[in-house]
Amino acid sequence: MTRPSSLRPDLIDAALASVRKLGTPLWLYEANLIRERAGQLAMFDCVRYAQKANSNTHVLRLLRSLGVFVDAVSLGEIERALVAGYDPHSPAHEIVFTADIIDEATLQRVVELGIPVNCGSPDMLRQIGQKAKGHPVWLRINPGFGHGHSRKTNTGGPSSKHGIWHEEFEDSLRLVDEYGLTLIGLHMHIGSGVDYAHLHKVCDAMLDAVRRADRPLQAISAGGGLSLPYKAGEPEIDIAEYHAAWDRTRREAEAITGGPVRLELEPGRYLVGNAGILIAEVRAVKKVADKHFVLIDAGFSDLARPAMYGSHHDIAFVTAAGEPVAGPETPIAVAGPLCESGDVFTQQEGGFVEFREMPLPKTGDFAILRDAGAYGATMSSNYNSRPLAPEVMLDGGALTVIRKRQSIAQLLALEEGAGPL
Ligand code: LLP
Repeated sequence: MTRPSSLRPDLIDAALASVRKLGTPLWLYEANLIRERAGQLAMFDCVRYAQKANSNTHVLRLLRSLGVFVDAVSLGEIERALVAGYDPHSPAHEIVFTADIIDEATLQRVVELGIPVNCGSPDMLRQIGQKAKGHPVWLRINPGFGHGHSRKTNTGGPSSKHGIWHEEFEDSLRLVDEYGLTLIGLHMHIGSGVDYAHLHKVCDAMLDAVRRADRPLQAISAGGGLSLPYKAGEPEIDIAEYHAAWDRTRREAEAITGGPVRLELEPGRYLVGNAGILIAEVRAVKKVADKHFVLIDAGFSDLARPAMYGSHHDIAFVTAAGEPVAGPETPIAVAGPLCESGDVFTQQEGGFVEFREMPLPKTGDFAILRDAGAYGATMSSNYNSRPLAPEVMLDGGALTVIRKRQSIAQLLALEEGAGPL
């Protein structure tokens, strides 16, 4: 499968039907594409969705119905998983909490619910151990190298804050023993955006850790980071090859530990990234020198990825009647409404504005930003006091509002009734 270069007419119809009811900007997700992605990963023993990519409880419910478990990185994400019906008490541990620190409120909650904690620092092990002897834990190891689509998504190596530094692994195992914690497994996530050279390095590092742990393990986790095509014609990653490398690693881990070892995968973007679009209205078309800026009513307060990482999102313009905007191609930058020069959707890492050759839209047309299902709505903010945009799910031709638009009154509510401390 390669990502289609043009938008399907039924998706454009669904987008326009949604904005007619709810206005712009608006997120639209396709349930079928999420199902398809989950199906592609079925060869893993356990797919644990990194919900930071898209934590809408309806997305979680859909993934739960497909047998996908969940990872949470905050108390809020634990509560979302519970609302979506995940059972923290199931023997298979449907919810795992992964982080490099744990605050008191979250510690209280994971202990109360028996949620395993994937620990990224020795201090976390001490804090959990002091609170709850025997609590189930994973160890997230930084193997000393990493890789990512941006420096900001590289989660391994000596410049990363994530995981237990490989040289502290033995000390961490001693803490597990000292506090009588139950070690479930070992976890490595070196960053977002897989390449195969790193894949084999991580598999080797995992086996090295399994040997050094020198004890039975229930599971190993390959982390997430599977990349997605964001541009037309970009290849899909080869899941069979990815699985084969990890399956071999699992078998060798079984030979070392002498018992069965479950193979977990923790993808975020792979499950939801291509399944979402952001729809905004063109509100101004400006000539600047010999080029054009098309200004739309969504900003980096909605989709932060281009401003944060220089990420590429394909953009298509359609008319209010749903026809693709046609005409001669001309250099266009697409930007938002925020009072910030970095509020540009067509930019490269470092903030260099990119002009793309596209037919010029007019005000009242719509811009569709593609592949925005992962790290879109979850990274939105209220910057410039702009309310969060609504989310809609398209499933079998039916459209369901899965999050309403935030109101300005809701946004101001926390500041009401100010009083002495
Ligand atoms: N597991 C762990 C421990 C992680 O830290 C992450 C992502 C994942 C799994 C899922 O990674 P994925 O499969 O989605 O690549 N906001 C950035 C990505 C940050 C990822 C943070 N951790 C972006 O928009 O590209």
